[in-house]
Amino acid sequence: MNAHRIAAIPGDGIGREVLPVAQRVLDAVASRHGFELSWNELPWSCSWYAAHGAMMPPDGLDRLRDADAIFLGAIGQPGVPDHISQWGLLIPIRRAFDQYVNLRPVRLLPGLESPLRDCGRFDVAIVRENTEGEYSDVGGRFATPAGDVAVQESIFTRRGCERVLRFAFDLACDRGGRLISATKSNGIMHTMPFWDEVTAEVAAGHPGVDWRRMHIDALAARFITHPEDLDVVVGSSLFGDILSDVAAAVSGSLGVAPSANLDPTGDHPSMFEPVHGSAPDIAGRGVANPIAQVWCGALMLEHLGHPEAAADVLAAIEAVTAEPALRTRDLGGRATTEDVAAALTAALPPTSPLPH
Ligand code: NAD
Ligand code: IPM
Ligand code: MN
Repeated sequence: MNAHRIAAIPGDGIGREVLPVAQRVLDAVASRHGFELSWNELPWSCSWYAAHGAMMPPDGLDRLRDADAIFLGAIGQPGVPDHISQWGLLIPIRRAFDQYVNLRPVRLLPGLESPLRDCGRFDVAIVRENTEGEYSDVGGRFATPAGDVAVQESIFTRRGCERVLRFAFDLACDRGGRLISATKSNGIMHTMPFWDEVTAEVAAGHPGVDWRRMHIDALAARFITHPEDLDVVVGSSLFGDILSDVAAAVSGSLGVAPSANLDPTGDHPSMFEPVHGSAPDIAGRGVANPIAQVWCGALMLEHLGHPEAAADVLAAIEAVTAEPALRTRDLGGRATTEDVAAALTAALPPTSPLPH
């Protein structure tokens, strides 16, 4: 039987609650479609840090290298500074494996309500640069006679901008043909004008795409005032990060927003993780919404070459969101993580196509 090797890192907080739910759903759908997921469970997390003084072993990246994909819950726990935990695990994985596209699809699922009064249609793909930009370890703290100074450099390379912009314009060609590039070239004088320049160059190679730039502040407002106008939105790491939480909120909750960290060349494993974090405020109570993690699973199945199985998972998600009794608290309901898990598994289409 065809088995895919998946490195599973539940991580911290609700990551440990929602990742096992997604594994159950994925195992169920895989067996219906004649393939197997072979999980390599890795306990790397803030608890692991407490015991070992590091977020993962020194050969951690090498142990992930041969996986067909990485399935991650969330990282972060009060008591461990976030920059230590994220730069000890999540960010090194994205960078070492050249996962330069962070693709974050967001749409209003059947039955769910946006907090916006007249949301209309909302179906957006956020393409976020994922290996450079504002997230950088270049800089430092300096004591000066005038007081302490912290300097943080942003790094924008032509190669880095070009490849993610090309991915976004190609995606716009495959979708509605509209793209907005997030910028801030009015206030940021080096990196953002450069990003804009490379955007125009890449756009010239995609004459079919109706594109424009928007400053990030106005674009954030646009997500609230005209969400129905948006199709593909591309931005740097920081801009894409902020917009993806805004978009998730517009779609009803952070609890339903998936993300795929992709190395489109296929040279390294890609990583699938929700947009949300470890939610320490609700962790351990069995109330987290597992849908974002399960949707990540669908993105992973698609990436592994199983579009029908992925479609089955999405169909199960849509059947569950359509049922008000199955809403978790973030969506205004009272269902538990386990209620949703059981309903998702039960909602998988029963028929078993021929194994392939
Ligand atoms: P968060 O996404 O964890 O939580 C924000 C709010 O959304 C909280 O009120 C939380 O309860 C709610 N929420 C999030 N996911 C939910 C779900 N599935 N179901 C129901 N409610 C949900 O963001 P935060 O509070 O800023 O960060 C908490 C920790 O997570 C920090 O340590 C942060 O660094 C980390 N973080 C990790 C990742 C990741 O590992 N990919 C992503 C974002 C944040
Ligand atoms: C996300 C998270 C991370 C990011 C943090 C935890 C470093 O917010 O995946 O959206 O900003 O990339
Ligand atoms: Mn984020």
